[in-house]
Amino acid sequence: EKGNYRHFMQKEIFEQPTVVAQTLRSYVRQLERTVALPQIDFDITSINRVTIVACGTSFYAGMVAKYWFEMFARVPVDIDVASEFRYRDPVLEPGGLALFISQSGETADTLAALRHCKEAGQTIAVVVNVPTSSMAREADLLLPTHAGPEIGVASTKAFTCQLAVLAALAAHFAVKKGRLSKDEERAIVDHLLEAPACLNAALDHDDDIAQMAHLIAPARDVLYLGRGPDYPLAMEGALKLKEISYIHAEGYASGEMKHGPIALIDDHVPVVVLAPSGPLFEKTVSNMQEVRARGGKIVLISDAEGIAEAGEGCMATIEMPKVHPLIAPLVYAVPVQLLAYHVACAKGTDVDQPRNLAKSVTVE
Ligand code: M6R
Repeated sequence: EKGNYRHFMQKEIFEQPTVVAQTLRSYVRQLERTVALPQIDFDITSINRVTIVACGTSFYAGMVAKYWFEMFARVPVDIDVASEFRYRDPVLEPGGLALFISQSGETADTLAALRHCKEAGQTIAVVVNVPTSSMAREADLLLPTHAGPEIGVASTKAFTCQLAVLAALAAHFAVKKGRLSKDEERAIVDHLLEAPACLNAALDHDDDIAQMAHLIAPARDVLYLGRGPDYPLAMEGALKLKEISYIHAEGYASGEMKHGPIALIDDHVPVVVLAPSGPLFEKTVSNMQEVRARGGKIVLISDAEGIAEAGEGCMATIEMPKVHPLIAPLVYAVPVQLLAYHVACAKGTDVDQPRNLAKSVTVE
């Protein structure tokens, strides 16, 4: 069932415009231009804290969501990986929403954390791709992603669908708390609905990325840098590269680089910078200068404006469409997935079944 694709991962990357559109259909009303969530039978306005728990790529989707919940709904968010959360005796006060994100809905640590939160009296919401999974069954609020079966061990389309659901949830929260006017809500819905076309535009760079993969394939280490909601994307990019190409990669907050990882930079270390133009762009440009001054080779992923301003002197650039900051994490996921994919192909690794990894981690 791979059709014309070489790998399931490749097919799943290219399915993203379709499955994100499919997912959004359940979370927005296109005509009214409002967000629409499944029936919620608790008072969402009484939620005073959100605790997000997940693993791997789903955890990075949660990290992006933290920015959105805080920005739109002004609700405090705590987030942790499930394997730490479960054992650290977290403070869970009444009025809390515990939000679990999982493609499979079966990840053992995430499921155990869910049960722990349930016992502690938290309201349980889950974003899952398998609607018959254990997490789906045990939730008070089920928020399904409609990505379809994900076969490749490296998660791709589940991630962008998770982001689509989480953006709608954050907006819904903000509407209910009276923090978004009707016009603001419509604007958010319009931006979300632009995502599939922008994902298609990002996918148009497949050939260029395949070419530049040969620049990355010989590297031993690769750094990914991003700021704000693109910081989790940097970690997601590094995770994808590690998983399928076996190249050591780290995702860092751009501003943290000078606090340590800059010591690694020399002309053998490619640095992938995720930086849409915007208020934080200048800061990232100075981080890029720090890298360049030490001989680091930069791959800049930005829009036309960002590339015009900072593309000179980069080893390579990948031009994304100019997008609203809300959907940037969905769109910028595509080039990092494609880069990992093509590097793995260049190295000849088993893309869909990387060594030592399982699709669903049901051991603790
Ligand atoms: O099914 P889940 O979303 O709960 O899985 C969580 C992680 O095991 C998963 O995201 C893993 O990190 C992927 N292989 C990443 O590509």
